[in-house]
Amino acid sequence: MTHSICYVSSATDNLNENEMDLLFNTVLHKNKGLNITGILLYYYGNFLQVLEGDEEALKSLFETIKKDKRHQNLITIYDKKNDHSIFDEYKTGFSIIKTENDLKNLKAYLKLSEDKEPLSTSVLGLLKPFLI
Ligand SMILES: Cc1cc2nc3c(=O)[nH]c(=O)nc-3n(C[C@H](O)[C@H](O)[C@H](O)COP(=O)(O)O)c2cc1C
Repeated sequence: MTHSICYVSSATDNLNENEMDLLFNTVLHKNKGLNITGILLYYYGNFLQVLEGDEEALKSLFETIKKDKRHQNLITIYDKKNDHSIFDEYKTGFSIIKTENDLKNLKAYLKLSEDKEPLSTSVLGLLKPFLI
């Protein structure tokens, strides 16, 4: 049993490219240390994040993320227990999705895991507006 949280938010408009890279590096580094898998997708000013891992670690991280001034208008899509994590076998466990190619690869991976894991279908649905 693992825990999964998914939300969308919008970046505050004063984030430049360097600040964004700094954020992405922190996220990758810290999530690796906490054994958190998932994705952080950034697309035209909006974030979509899926976090998976130990419930306590995730809840505490989510409280920190909610207070982060680099984004606003956060809407939680789900916050629930799940039988399996979807992303533990994807790349390095936690991935930043920035380019169309990243999105294409992610979509292909989720399509493959749809049979094993119904939550993949729901994440694929959420990604639809982002998929070209
Ligand atoms: C959209 C967004 C997503 C974030 N995702 C994560 C995350 O997955 N993991 C993480 O450790 N911090 C994430 N952060 C950063 C945290 O809010 C916080 O700044 C960071 O964890 C603090 O790290 P520090 O205490 O080592 O400075 C995110 C911030 C934003 C704006």
